[in-house]
Amino acid sequence: MKVLFILFGAEGDLSSRLILPALYNLHLDGLLPLDFALVAVDRMVSDPAELIARYRESVSSNSRRGSPEERSWADFSSKIRTFCADLETDSSYQELARQLSEQESAWGEQAEQIYYLATPPLLFEPVTRGLGKAGLAKNREKARIVVEKPLGHDLESSRAINRSLSCYFEEGQIFRIDHFLGKETVQNILAMRFANPMFEPVWNRRYIDHVAITVAETLGVEHRAGYYEKAGALRDMVQNHLLQLLCLVAMEPPVAYDAEDIRGKKMDVLRAIRPIAHDEVWECAARGQYGPGWMGGVELPGYREEQGVDRGSNTETYAALKLHVDNWRWQGVPFYLRTGKRLASCVSEISIRFQDVPHKAFPASMGVDAQPARLVIQIQPRQGIVLKFIAKEPGLPLRLRPVDMRFSYREAFKTAAPEAYETLLRDIMVGDATLFMRADQVEAAWQLIMPILDVWQANPAPDFPNYPSGTWGPESAALLVARDGRSWLTPT
Ligand code: BG6
Repeated sequence: MKVLFILFGAEGDLSSRLILPALYNLHLDGLLPLDFALVAVDRMVSDPAELIARYRESVSSNSRRGSPEERSWADFSSKIRTFCADLETDSSYQELARQLSEQESAWGEQAEQIYYLATPPLLFEPVTRGLGKAGLAKNREKARIVVEKPLGHDLESSRAINRSLSCYFEEGQIFRIDHFLGKETVQNILAMRFANPMFEPVWNRRYIDHVAITVAETLGVEHRAGYYEKAGALRDMVQNHLLQLLCLVAMEPPVAYDAEDIRGKKMDVLRAIRPIAHDEVWECAARGQYGPGWMGGVELPGYREEQGVDRGSNTETYAALKLHVDNWRWQGVPFYLRTGKRLASCVSEISIRFQDVPHKAFPASMGVDAQPARLVIQIQPRQGIVLKFIAKEPGLPLRLRPVDMRFSYREAFKTAAPEAYETLLRDIMVGDATLFMRADQVEAAWQLIMPILDVWQANPAPDFPNYPSGTWGPESAALLVARDGRSWLTPT
């Protein structure tokens, strides 16, 4: 295999923070082909030596393996070329095409061509057009285009992005990244569900009371106010990552582990999610914005005091949703989703709460906890699965209490897992689209959240900020589940 990896937006943050460390780790693991070239494209690309030095620094600070060792870095960096071009001018792409074909001639073979758009979304259209007009999209087998979120700001703009991508590229050539899908623990959801016989029989409305998905961060908005002010938690996390997690938990078994089957099954879930009417938004969704607070003994500013944030900002940094999946398997089982910044701890997990036993044979005095059996899929930072169930305490008198049965990745496998981007970049090179989002999924996810976005935008939150940094979010999110007689359980 020969790979031409053309990185548009080579000078940007995404390129140096995530893409370069991932490529370098693939190189260390021998997963980059010998014939690999990274063409770093940007409007003002620094001179090659300077860019390579900067990439090296960012690999040192962002790679799971720390600073690159001299020889392997020299080897890797010899594969980097730079190309300075105005991305909005069609003629740039003619020149790019010429250079790429020169490289292919030197290799004596057509390469897999990966056009990675690490650019602001405004450039998706001109870059796609430029590539298309220069004939760089026309090899349906080998030319691939990669885009990342934000894939639109709403349903309309996401459709516009899909339209402009599909003008020149076929759907099978388009790789839309949701980096959560590259996480090992997220991929393991399907392995756990469909490579074992014992989960599937209870994975339905007869045994499951509800599903709660939590993606909690302790970080604040950091240096991303420019983007986040216009996005907010619902667009930033729910529209993509949390809905993808829901799909993996709720989907039907695939016939085969292949891109079309799995993506089709996930799409069925999105289609089955009950739409939220505008007048139901207040019952089905809760929003929050962090105020000042204390974390680990440090006093932190509220969102509105962060650099670049409007002092009267209405942007939500927390979102919680209650969804229903209207199909045979899930009828009547609510899915609660929550995510937020500056929460009490950094933890992502999916909690599958089983129903109570149909008959309580043990008297309450024996200490049966009100918290029945749960299966917890720990996504990060702990990576594993915990089954929580009731056991008998040793000794007399007879007493019962909840216990945990744990599987931990670290203990079971004793090897470091690749970062999500390593998995995803490798999949792009070999043309495996299983872990990528299809156009219809992205649009269905936007369609689902549009009423919430509309209602929230039309009604600025009078109570923002409504949760102090370092807590578990606003009261309204607790009420969202309390109304159903349930509560968010503290993550494991
Ligand atoms: C990104 C969001 O997609 O995911 C960020 O834009 C968020 O706001 C991040 O912090 C979380 O990803 P991870 O992999 O760090 O959990």
